[in-house]
Amino acid sequence: MSIDVEQLQSDLMAEIATADLDALEAIRVKALGKQGAITGLLKTLGGMSPEERQVQGPAIQGLRAAVADAIAARKAALEAEALDAKLATEKLDMTLPVSTGPQGSVHPVSQVMDELAEIFADLGFAVATGPEIEDDWHNFTALNIPETHPARAMHDTFYFPDEKDGKKMLLRTHTSPVQIRTMMNQSPPIRIIAPGRTYRSDSDATHTPMFHQVEGLVIDRGIHMGHLKWTLETFVKAYFERDDIVLRLRPSFFPFTEPSAEVDVGFTWVKGRRVIGGDPAAGNGGWMEILGSGMVHPKVIAACGLDPEEWQGFAFGCGIDRLAMLKYGMDDLRAFFDGDLRWLRHYGFAALDVPTLSGGVGA
Ligand code: PHE
Repeated sequence: MSIDVEQLQSDLMAEIATADLDALEAIRVKALGKQGAITGLLKTLGGMSPEERQVQGPAIQGLRAAVADAIAARKAALEAEALDAKLATEKLDMTLPVSTGPQGSVHPVSQVMDELAEIFADLGFAVATGPEIEDDWHNFTALNIPETHPARAMHDTFYFPDEKDGKKMLLRTHTSPVQIRTMMNQSPPIRIIAPGRTYRSDSDATHTPMFHQVEGLVIDRGIHMGHLKWTLETFVKAYFERDDIVLRLRPSFFPFTEPSAEVDVGFTWVKGRRVIGGDPAAGNGGWMEILGSGMVHPKVIAACGLDPEEWQGFAFGCGIDRLAMLKYGMDDLRAFFDGDLRWLRHYGFAALDVPTLSGGVGA
């Protein structure tokens, strides 16, 4: 049997060289398919004498490989050509507006926390955190809150079932335990704020069982009430972005500060709404309580292992939700935590365009 392998190869190669994609597939079937010419040649190897097979075997295999390669190369070239043609004619209009999918927004509480961190960072305060599930030593005892204090009562505080070692675990009722944790873990001088969630058994238009506070703590040598007053004034002016802020420190009592002061901010009536700013002495406004503060009690400093003769400091605690309501004009605290999308869209802040204090609100 005489097979002209070379002739077959040159015929196929010539066909492949000018084939389009459809013709290429037809050639592949005709040469390499089940009934194809080369497949047929491979089948004849079985009937050959060993000597003949030694010659024809490599020749036919070589033919098969050469044709398969040529088909693959032509196919790749045709596809590349098609892509080039497509790229040359297709145009993208870069000026078309991008359609964005649904977008979330920054919750006012997160927004205010960011603003607080930014204001206090400028004053050299770091942000500290602590656990929301606390033990009663950090939440009460170390803060000089006696066993008999009403804040410890079950109807005010969410307790967990008693631990085996007798430890009482609870949802922290204020951010003040972060003062304790910070004083125990860092050495003075200390300047921190601690924003976070707090919990009390309370629910009405101005109280929710979960709410947010920010704690401030400074521990250093020679710290006095003047430092506290200046810091609070600077903070409140920066937060409300007004220079005409007037503060009033009222003597008060907290077990963990001595002396203690409640701090009121002056507001002015504008079109039936209270607007923070202005001096109530002018007659068109009044005072609004915004935070509790005082000089850290020597017993608290000692409970944290520091010498109160050497180290003094001030602390304050402030409701973040209330700060947000006062600045951004919300009336009902409960709406903060309802997760109503209409409320969030109205009061939320754009994630990538958050008005920062350095940029100015609405910038
Ligand atoms: N922890 C107090 C509260 O929750 C606030 C406070 C903090 C007062 C720090 C004085 C100093 O009411």
